[in-house]
Amino acid sequence: MTRAVVLASGFGSNLQTIIDRTDSGKLSIEVVAVISDQAQAFALQRAKLADIPAIFVDPKNFSSRIEYDVELSDEIKRLKADLIVLAGFMRILSIQFIESFPWRIMNIHPSLLPKYKGLNTHARVLNAGDRYHGATVHFVTEELDAGPIIIHKKVPVYSNDTEIELKNRVHECEYEIYPIAIQWFADGELSVDNGQVLRRGKPCFAELSHWWPVKLNFWGK
Ligand code: GAR
Repeated sequence: MTRAVVLASGFGSNLQTIIDRTDSGKLSIEVVAVISDQAQAFALQRAKLADIPAIFVDPKNFSSRIEYDVELSDEIKRLKADLIVLAGFMRILSIQFIESFPWRIMNIHPSLLPKYKGLNTHARVLNAGDRYHGATVHFVTEELDAGPIIIHKKVPVYSNDTEIELKNRVHECEYEIYPIAIQWFADGELSVDNGQVLRRGKPCFAELSHWWPVKLNFWGK
């Protein structure tokens, strides 16, 4: 069984989905620990409630990013984790850390990468007047939000959307695609060739779309 460590800085709703899917047998991994850089992260409470070790690694105890990441990677190696799942982990990881776990770190990002790397994606999409938004799961490389894409899902943006409404819609699609990508990894189906993710040897950049809402949005404008 794939041993996964989840790294989370905040609310942990993606973590909760992973825990729930694992508990219900829909996702065949073991979450061996949740690690956070924030003592108050609700993700740590979620871990404790699920009887999963909850580990706070305090950035204040380290004088540099590299020292912090050495502690993080030592902890992950102690846990014998096969997969590192970033679920709202808001620290930039060092190259040294990333290279210690080649193609074993996944991230979910609230945009249709390569569009809208970085923060405040929902507000930026609304400001730009985009018709579509979404979420992307990708392997982590040294370039922020730029690693090979495993899966993404599009959602419509409606003309009267608030940032919260759009964020909630994107979250729903995150809960759908992250477990899929993690299960593909757990089943040993993913590989990376020349910067492209393959699933069972074939390019796997799959896009799940909500065609009906997208069409309704189009005609409604
Ligand atoms: C998610 O929307 C995730 O895509 C985003 O943080 C949120 C965490 O929510 N991650 C990033 O922005 C990483 N660049 P959660 O704590 O409720 O799962």
